[in-house]
Amino acid sequence: MRALLPAVDAPAGLVLGTAGEPDPRPDQVLVDVRHISLNYGELHFLSRLPAGAVPGWDASGVVVRAAANGQGPAVGTRVLTYGAGFGAWAERRAVSLDELAVVPDSVDLAQAAALPVAGVTALRALRAAGPLLGRRVLVTGASGGVGRFAVQLAARAGAEVVASVGSPERGAGLEALGAGQVVAGLDGITRPVDVVLDAVGGAQLVAAFGLLAPEGVLVSYGCASGEPSVFPPYSTVGPGKSLVSFRIGDRLGADMATLLRLVEERRLTVDTGWRGPWEKAAEAAEALLGRRLLGKAVLDVTAA
Ligand SMILES: NC(=O)c1ccc[n+]([C@@H]2O[C@H](COP(=O)([O-])OP(=O)(O)OC[C@H]3O[C@@H](n4cnc5c(N)ncnc54)[C@H](OP(=O)(O)O)[C@@H]3O)[C@@H](O)[C@H]2O)c1
Repeated sequence: MRALLPAVDAPAGLVLGTAGEPDPRPDQVLVDVRHISLNYGELHFLSRLPAGAVPGWDASGVVVRAAANGQGPAVGTRVLTYGAGFGAWAERRAVSLDELAVVPDSVDLAQAAALPVAGVTALRALRAAGPLLGRRVLVTGASGGVGRFAVQLAARAGAEVVASVGSPERGAGLEALGAGQVVAGLDGITRPVDVVLDAVGGAQLVAAFGLLAPEGVLVSYGCASGEPSVFPPYSTVGPGKSLVSFRIGDRLGADMATLLRLVEERRLTVDTGWRGPWEKAAEAAEALLGRRLLGKAVLDVTAA
């Protein structure tokens, strides 16, 4: 089958090649992949992939072989899938039953493909911050894949959202998604915040920690800046502020179903900043890593 594979000398380190067919376990379905989405992490760490592995976490498609254990969706069901063990960027993938969700009829399969890693990270990182009703929540990297979902989910949960982006033009559309204030860097934040959801790391994380109100919590889920965070002496000593490290974890099925329901009910918008065939994957990857993309990149898995 065709698959998008790492290639050191290719543009963006990606080439459309061939890979062996997946061999589903009894608790897995076989899915005909129709759309995939790209994430910063899988692109940034592509060179760390085990030799021969097919990359990719997020894919949507149609079940072509039901699980041999008799459970899960039937052949022909439209599904959204995730796999921490990669395997999404191919014509077919094997998926565990707790890493998939059925896509409602009214939700576009291509839109759905944008949800797994970015949407579930936003959902779970906000949960890790605790109750949000009436809280002031700062979302950094708000222009990105996770950020645009986090702004919306925090606003829906009753928070007052401050969205931080790299430059004013990168803030396009964020007020419509629920941000009460959009700032470049951390400029213009004049009152403390209760929660920070941080994608950027580095010096900005240190400054954002300084903006926390007493008992506030900073959830660190990314480091898109690639910079170290150096805290001045005593800046971490104080009235019960917390810094929580976050990782997405596994068993995304139930949370992906929640996000799909929100999309179905038009309470969650999927912003696709790049859409095209997977033959143009390098173009999409370069736009994402070059910070020229608002929201997600979704690729169509076309037939040869
Ligand atoms: N812990 C987990 O389980 C988990 C899960 C998902 C993602 N992540 C991590 O979370 C981060 C964001 O992921 P994503 O998929 O949302 O990525 P993304 O779509 O590329 O968005 C990242 C955003 O960060 C900002 N950014 C990038 N480089 C920056 C820099 N040098 N300085 C300041 N801001 C910068 C950009 O905003 P501007 O262009 O507006 O500056 C960009 O929109 C990544 O580090 C990723 O690895 C972690």
